[in-house]
Amino acid sequence: MSFVAHRSLKETYRKAVRGEGIYVFDADGNKYLDGSSGAGVSCLGHSNERVISAIKEQAEKLCFASSVFYTNDPTEELAAVLAKGAPGDLKYATFGCGGSEQVEGALKIARQYHVDRGEPSRTIMIARRQSYHGMTLGTLNVGGHIGRRQLYTPMFAPTHLIAPHYAYRERREGETAAAYSLRVANELETKILELGQENVAAFIAEPVVGATNGCVAADDVYFKRIREICDQYGVLLILDEVFCGMGRTGTRHACEQDSVLPDLLVMAKGLGGGYQPISALLISEKIINAVKDGRGYIANGHTYMNHPLNCAAGLAVQQEIADRDLIANVAKQGAYLRARLEESFGQHAHVGDIRGRGLMQALEFVVDRETKEPFPPEKQLWAKLQKTAMTHGLMCYPNGGTIDGIKGDHVILAPPYIISEAQVDEMVEKLEKSVAQTINQL
Ligand SMILES: Cc1ncc(COP(=O)(O)O)c(C=O)c1O
Repeated sequence: MSFVAHRSLKETYRKAVRGEGIYVFDADGNKYLDGSSGAGVSCLGHSNERVISAIKEQAEKLCFASSVFYTNDPTEELAAVLAKGAPGDLKYATFGCGGSEQVEGALKIARQYHVDRGEPSRTIMIARRQSYHGMTLGTLNVGGHIGRRQLYTPMFAPTHLIAPHYAYRERREGETAAAYSLRVANELETKILELGQENVAAFIAEPVVGATNGCVAADDVYFKRIREICDQYGVLLILDEVFCGMGRTGTRHACEQDSVLPDLLVMAKGLGGGYQPISALLISEKIINAVKDGRGYIANGHTYMNHPLNCAAGLAVQQEIADRDLIANVAKQGAYLRARLEESFGQHAHVGDIRGRGLMQALEFVVDRETKEPFPPEKQLWAKLQKTAMTHGLMCYPNGGTIDGIKGDHVILAPPYIISEAQVDEMVEKLEKSVAQTINQL
């Protein structure tokens, strides 16, 4: 009998007891290749000695010091590491425990920026359909996944969603990639004009969409236009890199590959690699200066912000990534993974699209490659695939509702940055078996 309110109240969960490198072991002695880093978290794999020692060392010195009274060394050092590698003027960092918490922080500081500068009418956030920004009420409200929002919709303030950059399904026949990117980016301008620029606070997007859409990236044409529109209408640009940031796509920040500079940048999963719960919000100098000249303090805060133990873990994770040049390994193994996926699934009758960047790759499943018709949602392909893969010793990250929050299935592979070529082979072979068995069962 378990007294834990697990995610599903109908299932019995395996008990994870140990991790080693890219593998997790359960209480029955079964071994699983962590092909998804949990949900994009365990970037260093499991049981990294350096990170564990850093946590122990910090725990012996100081576990907690309230940010109401103090700063602390790990927080200062981690902020300096992030500032040093940050694009543009994103020089200030604040730390929390989870992605949603920091996305909320970004939405709130965006609002505060406008109020402190004397534009209090700017309250509206614009987001994209098929995006995911977290599970709190505020972040669900800017999320574009109907399935995840449904239960809470009556509680939300009106949200304004524009199209995602989803070329596989939404690029028209004969339309060039650049024309498509401009067309969807221009939806932001249309929406701002419809709402009145004086009412819009910020636009939020994931540079590479994670769980809801399955590793869908845009391009620099899209984000260049998005930045132009934000600048023209005084709207802040928030990029949510909770999943795709901190090296996952082959550069520290995913937005570097789109040559776009946000005003606020959120990161979480790969920041602490799961060794401690930690997230960060990078804030531009422009915003900090406006707030400094305004009320002089950030009107947001949580008990565990700037937590010394969490920051010590995040610092050790980032030092390990830098010293072992692991982001270069992400680029290398990411290219190899993509090639292996193309080889195994490129001609697969039920794989319509293979996409992603670095070690963040996905397959989108279809009944028919020509018509792109998805499997009926009631078949629950994605959920069955997750279960089947576990029986083959593979953790992968499938999800449903890929197309519109209800229809469509995809699976994400996002293994730890330490993965080797032989382990990529092992992962893809396990996925091949799992996909074949799942589709046969349907
Ligand atoms: C892009 C993105 N934003 C926000 C979140 C929410 O993060 P958390 O679950 O840590 O609150 C997630 C989590 O998967 C995410 O992928």
